[in-house]
Amino acid sequence: MYPLASRMASAKPSFVREILKVANRKDIISFAGGLPDPSLFDVEGIQAATETVFSSNSSAALQYGATDGYLGFKQQLAAVMATRGVATVNLEQLIVTTGSQQGIDLVSKILIDPDDVVLVERPAYLAAVQVFELYQAQMRGIEQDGDGIQIPDLERAILECKKDGKRPKFIYTVATFGNPSGSTLSLERRKQLLEIAVREEIMVIEDDPYSELRFSGTNLPPLIALCEDIPNASNFVMYMSTLSKFVAPGLRLGWIIAPTELIQPLTIVKQAADLHSSSFAQYVAATYLETGRLNQMLPKIREAYGAKGNAMMEAIAQAFPAGMLEFNAPSGGMFIWAKMADGVDTMSLVKKAVDNGIIFVPGAGFFPDAKRSNYLRLSFATPNLEQIKEGIKRLARAIVD
Ligand SMILES: Cc1ncc(COP(=O)(O)O)c(C=O)c1O
Repeated sequence: MYPLASRMASAKPSFVREILKVANRKDIISFAGGLPDPSLFDVEGIQAATETVFSSNSSAALQYGATDGYLGFKQQLAAVMATRGVATVNLEQLIVTTGSQQGIDLVSKILIDPDDVVLVERPAYLAAVQVFELYQAQMRGIEQDGDGIQIPDLERAILECKKDGKRPKFIYTVATFGNPSGSTLSLERRKQLLEIAVREEIMVIEDDPYSELRFSGTNLPPLIALCEDIPNASNFVMYMSTLSKFVAPGLRLGWIIAPTELIQPLTIVKQAADLHSSSFAQYVAATYLETGRLNQMLPKIREAYGAKGNAMMEAIAQAFPAGMLEFNAPSGGMFIWAKMADGVDTMSLVKKAVDNGIIFVPGAGFFPDAKRSNYLRLSFATPNLEQIKEGIKRLARAIVD
């Protein structure tokens, strides 16, 4: 083997990516990936926007662009942020990224030294965990329930770090419709989290790919929208989001909003990574967002995912004995995070599931510490309603007996 950098020593291919290979088989219904339903892409609208870009702005769209992003796109993102409760965004604090996955990588690159502690949710988004691992962070988990991370457990984790002579470098959270948890951090806990971040001087990184996909309950403000009420909080919050889940992931467009002092380091690492995100995609997305078509699309998208989520929950109630698969009903997003009895190893159920024509993601990989094997992540995003009902029946056949 050619000698790799030492940080690659523990790097391994994503288990979810491996599973997704099976998920492509025609005979398999997949609850595995968090892939948006392609029938919800606004193909017509994106095509029209592309044609507009070609007829009016082709030179700039096909040219190199600014590292922090195309201004017209950044302005449209500020308008998106206004709908999320952030009335004004300083555009100098906003950097366009190649999906929010790149946001996670860039932030890690500028903040993590080997052996730094990073606090994550238990369970945590797998591809973020992999990034933090690559930068050789020590991850420590914080327990969560249906209302997101439990504040006393956060306090415990911080205290333990102090005992070890460490201060966590940051707290990473998918506060709204978590992946994989489906949980949403309550308003009260959001405020408490910010107060702790300020008190302890720990950056909170909110990764928010799913908040547009709310199908029940009322919207909660992202952490960055709550900073006004908490002195100094804006210095300790970073926000990242993406067009992937509500426009299209193929555009590979996301964004970070960060405290001013972090913008230059982020710009330097972004430049090193890819100079800038695709100009073409940014022009198309800006033109698309400007048309306002999203206002017609979003209610359809939310309704469709709501119907799918509800269909999955109902099918589980019908197909499984009471208490066998427990979960907190999500009010948005793409996932049901189901718990089986202690001692069950869901990894060992994968083969049986595939033999029955169904695939899910076993939960163990989502725990960077305090491993638990009795969970499974079920995504209702991609299959249609019939496939969801049939898929749950197959799952029951595979794991009930
Ligand atoms: C929590 C979370 N963060 C980030 C991403 C990456 O999204 P993007 O397509 O914007 O890179 C995903 C995608 O599944 C996700 O679930």
